[in-house]
Amino acid sequence: MTRFVLAPLADFTDAPFRRLCSEGGADLAYTEMVSAAGLAHGSLPTQQLLETMDGEGPVACQIFGADERDVAAATALIQRTCRASFCELNLNAGCPMTKVVRTGAGAKLIEDPEKIGRLVRTMAENTDLPVTVKTRLGLRPKENAIFEILDAAEQAGARGIIVHARYVSQLHSGPVDLETLAEVVRRAHVPVTGNGSVTDPASAAAMAATGVAAVMVGRAALKEPGIFRRLKAGEPPSPPDVEKARKLFLRHLDFLLKFRDRLAGRFPGDRIPSADAFAALKMRTHLFRYFSGCPGAAALRARFGTVRTLADGCRCVGVETSGATNYLCKVNAM
Ligand SMILES: Cc1cc2nc3c(=O)[nH]c(=O)nc-3n(C[C@H](O)[C@H](O)[C@H](O)COP(=O)(O)O)c2cc1C
Repeated sequence: MTRFVLAPLADFTDAPFRRLCSEGGADLAYTEMVSAAGLAHGSLPTQQLLETMDGEGPVACQIFGADERDVAAATALIQRTCRASFCELNLNAGCPMTKVVRTGAGAKLIEDPEKIGRLVRTMAENTDLPVTVKTRLGLRPKENAIFEILDAAEQAGARGIIVHARYVSQLHSGPVDLETLAEVVRRAHVPVTGNGSVTDPASAAAMAATGVAAVMVGRAALKEPGIFRRLKAGEPPSPPDVEKARKLFLRHLDFLLKFRDRLAGRFPGDRIPSADAFAALKMRTHLFRYFSGCPGAAALRARFGTVRTLADGCRCVGVETSGATNYLCKVNAM
């Protein structure tokens, strides 16, 4: 049976959201990309991206980098400090963001499959976690690099490959090329995970029909962390429902607050935002999505934009609370 996994999404796939997706049926969830250079040079904010929380399902850690020494040091640090948190270590070889590409990492690596091979080998030499690569089909349509990347990665010891079935020039939109993906599956000797615009049972079935071992879902999970279970059952989306959205919002907040406390305990010397600041940021950037399609969703989003405290944010969705402790009592009683 095809597995359904949560994609790495920078600024989103932290422990609280991964936990929500795991409850929503995700068989595996990826961390956001973690800078190998940041880990190698002791950055505490970067190390915080490696934190997991109780109750999460299997987690794969993704790193990005281009310097073999940094990648070796980052891998060794993960192996030494948090090996038990993860079931896989993944190399990002597909991110098109300028700040990543200009360091030679992410999608820049697609120009040099042999370098991908060297980085994979370096990782495999420094951890006993299975090493995988997440990449794209090539730089632009008709210029496939994926078969060379597959060969290089397999020869270097990669135990899986994740293919976003688009080209770098497409960024995150435009058609996915499932024919080429199916050819990758035919040629691969390791499990292939397929990714790109899976949003409903039809797109999931089309992706699964390529023969991939797993289907990876990214953006569609942001407003529906339960999409994994729904896609496995082949069910269409249910109509927007404020009550369901509110429950999801509160559950996510609950996990966020617990995770914040964990970070504060684990990184006492670092400035971890207050519960209010932590919650307000996530309401602004993520939690408003749970109400999309509900009456008044646009106005609610605008209100979240001005929220500064947990209590203010909860009031926007009709829940009265005077602060984090009181809030947790309420949620746990629901
Ligand atoms: C906001 C955002 C952040 C992303 N961050 C990462 C990342 O950290 N690592 C990565 O490999 N891909 C990243 N991606 C790409 C996704 O993992 C995925 O390949 C892409 O969104 C296509 O899948 P989807 O159509 O299901 O969203 C990101 C995409 C978005 C939209």
